[in-house]
Order: sequence, then C-alpha cells, then structure tokens
Amino acid sequence: MANTILIGSQWGDEGKGKIIDVITTEHKWVVRYQGGNNAGHTVEIGEERHVLHLLPSGILREGCSCVIGNGVVIDPAALKQEIDEVESRGYATAGRLFVSDRAHVIMPYHRLIDEYREGRATAKEKIGTTKRGIGPSYADKAARVGLRMGDMLLPDFAERVRRKVEENNVILEALGAPLPVADEVVAEYTALAKSLTPYIQDTVTLLNQADRRGESILFEGAQGAMLDIDFGTYPYVTSSNATAGGACTGSGIPPHRIERVIGVIKGYTTRVGEGPFPTELNDDTGEALRRAGNEFGATTGRPRRCGWFDAVVARYSAMINGIDFWALTKMDVLDQQPVIRVCVAYEYEGQRYEQVPGLISVLEGCRPVYEELPGWNCRTSDITRFDDLPDRARAYIARLEELTGVSVGIVSVGPQRDRTFVVESVYQPSV
Ligand code: IMP
Repeated sequence: MANTILIGSQWGDEGKGKIIDVITTEHKWVVRYQGGNNAGHTVEIGEERHVLHLLPSGILREGCSCVIGNGVVIDPAALKQEIDEVESRGYATAGRLFVSDRAHVIMPYHRLIDEYREGRATAKEKIGTTKRGIGPSYADKAARVGLRMGDMLLPDFAERVRRKVEENNVILEALGAPLPVADEVVAEYTALAKSLTPYIQDTVTLLNQADRRGESILFEGAQGAMLDIDFGTYPYVTSSNATAGGACTGSGIPPHRIERVIGVIKGYTTRVGEGPFPTELNDDTGEALRRAGNEFGATTGRPRRCGWFDAVVARYSAMINGIDFWALTKMDVLDQQPVIRVCVAYEYEGQRYEQVPGLISVLEGCRPVYEELPGWNCRTSDITRFDDLPDRARAYIARLEELTGVSVGIVSVGPQRDRTFVVESVYQPSV
C-alpha cells in the first residue's frame, strides 16, 4: 500500500470522485488538502448518487478515516449540512472524520466579497468564480487576518467573529454589498462551532502518526492542475495549489512520504468559468459532448465549456505533478463521434508550443494543432474489462499515452463503480 495523490489534470471535473471511491479500498485514510466547497465530487453507489463538496469521498467507504486538512478553506454551514446529509443516508462520521484546527474558515463576508467583486469586474476581469468565498478566504489567510477552525475552540471566538464582521463591513460597504449583522453572524457561527467541535483536531500529528503506523493515505485533489494558482491559467484559476505539491503543504505529510501520483484525465476537455481554453468547441460537436457527458457543474449547475482532448495540457500536467499513470474517464462520451480530434501542440505567431506557455496573453492567442483519429462508433458504457474495449478505443488510448509520455492505468466508461477498470500491465491494486 502506498501513499497516493490523486489529482485532476485538466480544468477539474475529470471524475475524480469516482476514481477515488474505487481506489480508497487500498487506503485507510482519505485527505482533502486544498480548495473548499467550490468542488463537487459525484459518486454513484448502486442506485444512490452522492455529490460531495467538502467531505473526502472516503466517507462513503466503511472503515475509511477522513481528514479535511489545513490547506482547505471551510464554510462551516456547508460542512455541517454535508455531515447531516451523509449521516441521514447511514454513513457515520463520528470518530472517522477529522477537521484540521489550522484550516481557515469561510465567513459570510468572504462570500459577499466574492460575489460583489465579480459583479463589478469588467467582462475581461471576470473569473467566473463559484461565489463560495474561496478566493477572499485564502486572501485573508495570506494576509494573516483569517479565522481558523481551531479558533472555534477558544473562549473568545464570538468576540473574534464580531470584530472580523465589523472590519469587513467597511469593505462590503465600499463594494455596495449588503452588510451582515454582527449579532446574527456571531449566533450562527457559535452554534456551528458547537456542532463541529468534536471533529476539530491537530490533523497534522494525527496523519503523521497514522503514516508511521504504516496506514496508507490517499490525498484527494480538488479542481485541476490548470486551475492551480501558480501553474494554471492565472488569473483564471482557483486560489489554492490544486497540483501535487499542495498535498504536502495542505496536510503536513512530508514530500518523501508520497509514493505515487495518479492523474485523472477525461477523454476530452471541459472547463467552467472564464479563461483561455484552446480546444474549446463552440459548435454542434461541443454541444454533443456536453449532452453525452452531462457536462453541467456539480456545484453551480453551470453548463461546462467542452472541447477536444488537449495533449499539451496533459503533458504539462504530467510534468508538474510527476504523474505515474493516468486514470482516463468518460471514454463512453466519445462513443458517437465518427472522428476524434486530439490537440498535439499549439501554434502562436508562427511558433510551435509543446508545453503550456506561462504568459496568459500568449495562451489566449494559441491555436490548437490537431491530429485526427477514427471514432469507434459503438457503445462502450457496458464494458467492464479493458480487453473488451473496441480496437479503435484502445488505439485512441495508446495515442494519448504516446503524446503525454504517461501510461493509462485505470479506465472509466460510466458513472457506476463497476464501470471503472484497471489496465493490469500498468496498475495492480494491492487490495
Ligand atoms: P473559485 O474557486 O470559486 O474561486 O473559482 C475560480 C475558478 O475555478 C472558476 O473558473 C471556477 O469555475 C473554477 N472552479 C472552482 N472549483 C471548480 C471545480 O471543482 N471544478 C471546475 N472548476 C472549478
């Protein structure tokens, strides 16, 4: 058993929840290490469909312990609601869910700043955030003025909340936003603190002790590499490190204890929100992918922008994350495509780019260089073994492997647990 990081390798929504759910059988612990309730992981078990925003997907596996690490920003009301929801469906959380005392708290003013700042932005400045207060909460963390989950355990928590609300009302007033009433926020947050207290812990020590006992840990990434605040398409990114490095800083587990990084990629590409997307299809094919893939945001319900597979993005993602193998999802969405295109490089002002350029102005001007492959034109969504995939689907996978320099170890052709299978020559689960 190996400590594993599993990350989205495109712009998020690659189907991480389902892959994590399958590989948690190998791990005793599942850790969320960045992001917040901007994420939405969908897991289908039998007839039941679960959408998780903050809770690690391991909460749906008996015997699995779950941590929300220090790198996450937590909206306590959203967390409480999600705990109540999984409990009502029969999944216990007491004694198996641990929330870092170092994780930062999302306050009502963070959500309002997020919304009203976006509202005032010009079309070019808009990021298309989820309006969950993620960016403003991380901004307070970096400015060293945030509240942390551990503060909820302190006797003066109510007073701290009151001071923060009053301070932020000055900003909200300038933005033309409604002003939260300090007494109401204090009442809401002290009640939430009371319900969440049993979960709040020093998860850094807890996880390192588990690691020393030889219990393996799965780090569940949220969003995707191209939304990483450092390596993504800044400023059209989220406010955390969604790449593999974030797993260490967001949990307290040192880098040398990580043994494996699995990258999740979709057989095509999607993005929600604003920002460059070289292979985007604003035509019937894009619409067909959106319909076949049900590409609507799990958190906001927004239609996702859809396009062909971008091997430049995947190659870059493999490089910065050190991907050991891919988990390739939603292959079945391509079943009806007579011809499938893959972007092998970009072209900008007569120059060819094999890697994602750092300058957003260059990326915005990049045109995709495509290669065409024949579609397989048959249904793959009932397949449960790699060897049963049609030859052309396997040829497509082989080409993606060549273009990215990384092998495919897991393939998924449908939302149910048994529609996700392994390529045994690449990956053998140890349980
Ligand atoms: P924020 O994370 O709400 O600040 O949004 C910043 C950008 O990240 C926006 O383009 C969002 O649409 C995008 N984003 C945030 N979370 C997710 C996710 O889980 N999947 C896909 N896109 C996301």
